[in-house]
Amino acid sequence: MTGLPAPLTLDAIHPHLATRVIGTTLLLHDEVDSTNRVLADLAQQGAHDGTVVVAESQTAGRGRLGRTWLSPRGLNLYVSILLARALPSETVSWTPMLAAVAVLRAIRTLTTLDVRLKWPNDVLAIRSGVGRKLAGILVDGVGTGQASGRAMVVGIGINVNMPVAAFPKELRATATSLLIETESPVDRGRLLATLLGELERLYDHACAHGPGDIAAAYQAACDTIGKPVRIELLGSEKIEGTAEGLASDGALRLRTKNEKVLEIRAGDVVHLR
Ligand code: BTN
Repeated sequence: MTGLPAPLTLDAIHPHLATRVIGTTLLLHDEVDSTNRVLADLAQQGAHDGTVVVAESQTAGRGRLGRTWLSPRGLNLYVSILLARALPSETVSWTPMLAAVAVLRAIRTLTTLDVRLKWPNDVLAIRSGVGRKLAGILVDGVGTGQASGRAMVVGIGINVNMPVAAFPKELRATATSLLIETESPVDRGRLLATLLGELERLYDHACAHGPGDIAAAYQAACDTIGKPVRIELLGSEKIEGTAEGLASDGALRLRTKNEKVLEIRAGDVVHLR
């Protein structure tokens, strides 16, 4: 690829797409406020399982913990997928991790990068022993418009062809893109189609067999487990300890300095080495 990265078009996605359900309806927008918001509205109007919304840019991209997600035009992937099948109940809390494993596998398919996960669902590129964030996941529970119907909107942002100069200075030490890491542009259509394929495989498996294999794949790829960490909880509380492992619902088990084991379900993790 030379010059500017190609625009994302259906023609650039479909030749690579080999899914059965996810992406059967794939809506590609030039600009939206947030693909998660657009898809939540469509779910309310009866959109079917596996509907996908993609945008070239977002004016109000949302991140975890009320943050914004930087969404410049034409460089990255901003995608939301509707998961509307009834999952085994113990699987629901693993959905963000399932999506993180799908992103990791898609990136590993297209690149040779050392990609790992930071609890709960940040995707990191490891370079010279340092992890920088490549992708993030935001899962919203949504109504489906049918009595008591619930579904999940899985929102995924991947920094694909974003050069260093497009990141605000304060993010440059902690965030990165596939372009920065691989030193060449990545085909966003192929990456999206590969991601949807990996997601469908894991989703089908979780629907049929529950979360066991997904939990195992997640733990194998998780860079947090075994590390000394600081957890920044909602509000301003911070706790330090060692990330020991995961509870059966995916919560992070943290052993504090005074040997208490806490189960953390929301918060931001900082790896201390
Ligand atoms: C995070 O904070 O790490 C989660 C970021 C999730 C960003 C994606 S981009 C597509 C989808 N639409 C949004 O508004 N957010 C998610």
